[in-house]
Amino acid sequence: MEQYAIKGGNPLVGEVEIGGAKNAALAILAAAAMTDETVVIENVPDLRDTMVMLQAMESIGVQVERENRHTVRINAKNIRNLVIEDDGIKKIRASYYFLGALLGRYKKAEVALPGGCNIGLRPIDQHIKGFRALGAEVRIEHGLIITEAERLRGSHIYFDGVTVGATINVMLAAALAEGQTIIENAAKEPHVVDVANFLNSMGASIKGAGTDVVRIRGVQKLHGTEYTVIPDQIEAGTFMFAAAVTKGDVTVKNVIPKHLESISAKLMEIGCEVEESDDAVRVVAAKPLTHTQVKTLPYPGFPTDMQPQITVALGLSRGISIVTESIFENRFKYVDELTRMGASIKVESNTAIIDGVAKYTGASLTAPDLRAGAALVTAALAAEGVSTIDDVNFIERGYEDFPQKLQSLGAQIEKVNTERELKKFRLKTG
Ligand code: UD1
Repeated sequence: MEQYAIKGGNPLVGEVEIGGAKNAALAILAAAAMTDETVVIENVPDLRDTMVMLQAMESIGVQVERENRHTVRINAKNIRNLVIEDDGIKKIRASYYFLGALLGRYKKAEVALPGGCNIGLRPIDQHIKGFRALGAEVRIEHGLIITEAERLRGSHIYFDGVTVGATINVMLAAALAEGQTIIENAAKEPHVVDVANFLNSMGASIKGAGTDVVRIRGVQKLHGTEYTVIPDQIEAGTFMFAAAVTKGDVTVKNVIPKHLESISAKLMEIGCEVEESDDAVRVVAAKPLTHTQVKTLPYPGFPTDMQPQITVALGLSRGISIVTESIFENRFKYVDELTRMGASIKVESNTAIIDGVAKYTGASLTAPDLRAGAALVTAALAAEGVSTIDDVNFIERGYEDFPQKLQSLGAQIEKVNTERELKKFRLKTG
């Protein structure tokens, strides 16, 4: 039994340092295998997913050295084989970035079909369409995606929908293709820009990342670099909403406030004060929260990875709120858990209709996936009494030192492994 025990009711107050962006780091780690020179990456979050990615790299002969907890030195000059299929990698989504990275450098890759959070169908048809447009063959055999090409040639690719993963994956392969690739309807997320900046620092020629049209002029070779990953927009947003639901006053530090604008805007709409400075954002929740409407959208819209967190807050906001999920079709599974805490939420297909209640009460909860798990932690922090949350391994895929960071803000949360430890927690927290 590995669970979080949480006694709610304390407002979160203080400052918290935000780590490097998980989703940027995962793609950047894969991209580091695209050169035989040494690459040093700083601000890599110490998470299960980054560890799995690094282990997968080691399994094909990449040398990985941790200079410190958040800095890795990678050298991929002795890659032995191009098949990535260890058990860990099958569980994470970002494994697909090895396809683009290795296809670009070696014109061949075999990677286990990607896993990741169960939040609905997660097809990879757009990745495949992109690789094929570059001249690669792609087939699926024995649970592996196999892609290979005689030569990769630049192409004009129009994505059917906005996809972060396919935009990055095609950027990776096209960086080492012959000639120019144009991606239309590209994703504009901050981590797409970060990966483009990283590749450019290795000698790639990518323009337009952060807009709908990305232009990549293929180069023959990439070289070593030193690079710092951007801060994690979703970790920051989660703490900002934790401040809101606990009626707290939290400053998230080491962030890029521009990346948090859609989150800040919603917090202000529901009655929080939000102050931005150069690399920090402070959220003060002094007034009762009020209702709003929100629809998840690709960047710069409100992120789907913040949908559970805002739903938790709206569940405690006066009036009727509506949350529409437009990216993933099965992302309201955690609502049953919130209902057991006293929330009044009705889900109809991709819409949640929320009738705000005055309080949540502690309950035994299970994290259904990464972001929903984190959102349930924030609900428990706001609730009356003690909650327990099972399956915290989901949460630890995306949040480094989550209990410790929350404790530093005054939260009563502990990771417990036995009934005895849970009892002790209950006694200690009264
Ligand atoms: C990434 C993030 C995830 C985030 C999501 C949206 C990583 C490891 N994960 O996931 O945390 O929630 O972006 O910001 O970075 N789609 C297709 N065909 C494809 C690819 C995607 O139909 O080939 C659809 C998906 O089903 C989804 C939408 O496009 O409905 C967006 O997906 P995408 O942006 O690619 O998300 P992921 O890369 O899976």
